[in-house]
Amino acid sequence: MMEENKSLDQVVCIIYDVLMYFAEAVAKSLKLPSIISAMYRLVLCWILIPFLGSKPKDLVPGLHPLRFKDLPISNMGSLDDVVKLAMDSRTTRISSAIIWNTIDHLEHSSLEQLHQLYNVPFFSIGPLHKMALATSTSLLIEDTDCIEWLDKQAPLSVLYISLGSLATVDKKEIAEMAWGLANSGRPFLWVVRPGSVRDSESAELLPEGFKEQIRERGHIVKWAPQKEVLAHGAVGGFWSHCGWNSTLESICEGVPLICMPHFADQNVTARYLCHVWKIGLELEHELERGEIEKVVKRLMTDKEGEELRQRAGDMKEKVELCTREAGLSYNSLNDLAEFILSFQRSSLFTLQPWL
Ligand SMILES: *[C@@H]1O[C@H](CO)[C@@H](O)[C@H](O)[C@H]1NC(C)=O
Ligand SMILES: *[C@@H]1O[C@H](CO)[C@@H](O)[C@H](O)[C@H]1NC(C)=O
Repeated sequence: MMEENKSLDQVVCIIYDVLMYFAEAVAKSLKLPSIISAMYRLVLCWILIPFLGSKPKDLVPGLHPLRFKDLPISNMGSLDDVVKLAMDSRTTRISSAIIWNTIDHLEHSSLEQLHQLYNVPFFSIGPLHKMALATSTSLLIEDTDCIEWLDKQAPLSVLYISLGSLATVDKKEIAEMAWGLANSGRPFLWVVRPGSVRDSESAELLPEGFKEQIRERGHIVKWAPQKEVLAHGAVGGFWSHCGWNSTLESICEGVPLICMPHFADQNVTARYLCHVWKIGLELEHELERGEIEKVVKRLMTDKEGEELRQRAGDMKEKVELCTREAGLSYNSLNDLAEFILSFQRSSLFTLQPWL
């Protein structure tokens, strides 16, 4: 595009996702500065390469409360692949700045640690879904009827369950989930995504007799308008795979969680939710109906759940302050805009002096 236009000054910088590190080569050949958009949890695995070989349950030095088994390394293919990714990303020229979809006070100390390592400006401009109000970014069709069902439920009574757009469970696991939910006696809204049950051939993913037993107490959809669901007054808990979007969306609405991470950064996020922010309960063992019933009751009826909900409510308020005018994320976004504009101004006079 730049060559066709013959106007090299129109593109002033390249912003790319950290996993697309090869975009750095393009930036370099075009003599453009670049900004990385990153998830700190994935950056972690590069820092930690020297620690490989420690035991799974060991705590990672300097990264309380993370254990080695929480790190997003084991599911990233072979060890060789991980090391190669780490080396490739390390040897590429360091970008001019890093953007984070987070709120500074949520993980202030982690960000400080990283800042010492990557000595470039950091812009924490999250939660993105609140900062940039886009129309739906959902890849699947959302069933909006569930909002009407929620309207009929008592305040804070409903558990919302969604394992996100990628995770799958097997037939036995979904049956345990179903009966655990049924036995808990609590109302629930459950997203059962088509294709999310691994070994099921039939269209009916749920066990026989389940729907008859729960009747009106449970509502099942293929995909839900999640942000709207979490903001609904009837929802009092979220059973989640702890993807970063789901986590931010839950925090923004003050909804405490049951955490069932699957892979990548989800395990790290679950540790933060349960042990740092203390707004989540861990569901770590094998999926079993008795365990599920217990954890659902702990979150939805016990005093413990009440305390988690209180803390989640406090966090929600803090996040709201950050996104308002003069708040941390608000200012950070303005600073980022200024930063990008400064490239444009300086390119009028010199050829990118930072290269
Ligand atoms: C996560 O949120 C971002 C920002 O709102 C959005 O662009 C992206 O599509 C979402 N990802 C998924 C998997 O929904
Ligand atoms: C994350 O947690 C799940 C469930 O406990 C586990 O199967 C997986 O191995 C864990 N670790 C990673 C890095 O994905």
